Amino acid sequence: MSRPELQAPPEIYYGDTEAKKYTNNSRIQQVQADMTYRALELLNLPPDEPAFLLDIGCGSGLSGEILDQEGYIWVGVDVAPSMLEVALEREVEGDLFLQDIGQGFGFRPGSFDGAISVSVLQWLLNAETSHPTSSPPHRLTRFFTTLHSALKNPSRAVFQFYPSSDDQIQLITSIAQKAGFGGGIVVDYPNSNKAKKIFLCLFVGSGGSTQQIPKGLEGDEELDAKVRFEQRRHREQRRMKGKRKPGRDRDWILKKKELYRKRGKEDVPRDSKFTGRKRKPVF
Ligand SMILES: C[S@@+](CC[C@H](N)C(=O)[O-])C[C@H]1O[C@@H](n2cnc3c(N)ncnc32)[C@H](O)[C@@H]1O
Repeated sequence: MSRPELQAPPEIYYGDTEAKKYTNNSRIQQVQADMTYRALELLNLPPDEPAFLLDIGCGSGLSGEILDQEGYIWVGVDVAPSMLEVALEREVEGDLFLQDIGQGFGFRPGSFDGAISVSVLQWLLNAETSHPTSSPPHRLTRFFTTLHSALKNPSRAVFQFYPSSDDQIQLITSIAQKAGFGGGIVVDYPNSNKAKKIFLCLFVGSGGSTQQIPKGLEGDEELDAKVRFEQRRHREQRRMKGKRKPGRDRDWILKKKELYRKRGKEDVPRDSKFTGRKRKPVF
């Protein structure tokens, strides 16, 4: 089976059925979560400070869910309406925009403290959207130039992606550099067919060209994964201590339904006096 980005434009490939299948696949959930954590590590944000992040090609919010868990405020953009619909259903916290990143961003200069993108960039090199307006190099130029302007100085943008050749890596890196970014490629587990991952780690501003590109991970990937899992679990336990999610009471559900109706969703259930969280029967 050929790669997804060779099969159809993204908003067609990720239609209703594929968007649900993708999101509910537990293997995909795990892999996207791991890569999001690694992208956050490479973003190197100051610890315990709030940050406003951009999730580029946010899809159904698998990466966004990690941003929520880690306490970041975020905005997600994606070109596939079905993926965004699933993200809405999953009630991710980020604000979602339907947008083709190849057309560039219109965010205010210096809006974001950082950007991540997981498994997206290869799409800009291959299948166009249904309404292509120019060639991949033009789209990449518009994308990187407007992203550079939307980011704070200094900051970083980290992309995990699946290039199909060294030429693609070279093309992407050189266009990003022309747009003003420093940085370069980080390869994790370069000698493992299974665990090898490629990240583009871009720097904006002060010291951009002199900042060291982070080192890729090497060694025993299974052991590393276990250690990272434990670290995350402890972090999450510490964070959740004394912090409970607000209850989903009747008012919360009514507000949510109202929002869906305003957004034009058709199958929102009618309100009833029983609307509210289902409780376990008490015997
Ligand atoms: C493999 S999914 C990854 C989704 C999400 N980042 C995650 O980790 O689960 C790739 C996503 O990139 C989006 N995408 C591809 N080309 C795009 C474009 N030109 N503009 C915006 N989003 C795009 C697709 O619609 C899809 O949701």
